[in-house]
Amino acid sequence: MSIPTIVTMPGDGIGQTVLPEAIKVLDKVGFKADYVHADIGWEFWKTEGNPLPQRTLDLLEKHRVALFGAITSKPKDAAASELDPSLRGKGYVYYSPIVGLRQHFNLQLCIRPCRSFTGNPLNFIRRGAGGSTDEPKVDVVIFRQNTEGLYSGVEWTGPSDEVRRALETHPKMGSFSEIPSEDLAVSCRIFSRPACRYICQKAFEYADKHGYKSVTVCEKPNVIRETSGMMAQEARLVAKEYPHIALWFTNIDAQMMWLTKNPEDYGVILSGNMFGDIISDGFAGLTGGLGFANSANVGEDCAIFEPTHGSAPKYFDYEVPIVNPMAMILSACMMLDHLDEVEKADRIRMAIAEVIAEGKVRTYDMMKLQGRPDVVEHGAASTYQMTEAILAKL
Ligand code: NAI
Ligand code: MG
Repeated sequence: MSIPTIVTMPGDGIGQTVLPEAIKVLDKVGFKADYVHADIGWEFWKTEGNPLPQRTLDLLEKHRVALFGAITSKPKDAAASELDPSLRGKGYVYYSPIVGLRQHFNLQLCIRPCRSFTGNPLNFIRRGAGGSTDEPKVDVVIFRQNTEGLYSGVEWTGPSDEVRRALETHPKMGSFSEIPSEDLAVSCRIFSRPACRYICQKAFEYADKHGYKSVTVCEKPNVIRETSGMMAQEARLVAKEYPHIALWFTNIDAQMMWLTKNPEDYGVILSGNMFGDIISDGFAGLTGGLGFANSANVGEDCAIFEPTHGSAPKYFDYEVPIVNPMAMILSACMMLDHLDEVEKADRIRMAIAEVIAEGKVRTYDMMKLQGRPDVVEHGAASTYQMTEAILAKL
């Protein structure tokens, strides 16, 4: 079998801390690959006016599989003020490079597994009647549509007259008729049938392959009738091919309220872009939080694996890094699954499970400490010590 080339994009802040830790683990488990570095993030925004340089797109175009750390993003005006003086006033506008990557390579699926590890002190604990407590085992996989919906980027502050006229063909626009355009902000929630069908098919395929008993469409079709309604329609069609898998519907608001009531009842959950973003953070919070939240951005011919967390700049310049490398390492496991190296991925996940169950090595977040440089003196494992513990199990 030929050796794959993996594009590595550590990006900013702790992305640069955790990505090399994942490679140590991949090496240890005997995964053979060539790694090629690609530039992405704040540094390149400041110096080139582009956080996602063309040379990075070219590398991804060629190799099609990548590990990504995290990037720093800032609002438009703050971003403009940090641009190199020689680039200012030349029309450069900051866009999030990860959103750019998802759209450029049509990485339609964002898959976010939220599984509790036995013995993780961060697992959700529920109080029962009479004061008893229990710790439900959560095993939920979120399928989030990654390229459309409210994140499609079709939006205006101060829409042009042409846009305004088009909007006014809708009777409901009448309630905004007195508002001057400069006081109107419009963000479009666009769903397409092919993308809805695709995510429904992939979610059911995944549920079938991995033995989940239900697929839940988490949207809001009672109010957002057109877009959520299209997703629900497509889910009903696809569900017919999987009579052994239950199709459930929840509304995003109610689902968030129920999050802690019966999280163990859910299997695969599928949502549009924004609700998928929300619900996946919600479930991640039950299973260890950002230090554990792993994800894959997958298209037909390109896939990028990344922890859900950001660049956590406040922890970046610590002499001994303290952040949890688990989210990045679990994302690398998803990459192994994608490359049909499931056995290696399972070995890593097993090693992680053992470290957590033993409870001797815990990063500061697992000890519920405030992140500070002295947490290691208070018994927290550093980033490196956590990786070492996993390597030792392997
Ligand atoms: P963040 O995820 O970087 O950090 C939030 C907090 O979560 C941290 O202060 C820390 O307490 C905790 N945390 C994050 N990762 C951790 C880890 N591996 N181990 C232990 N604790 C961890 O989000 P924040 O502070 O809102 O954003 C910082 C920057 O990251 C911003 O510029 C933001 O735009 C960017 N960002 C980038 C993302 C990406 O690259 N995909 C995603 C989210 C934010
Ligand atoms: Mg998010």
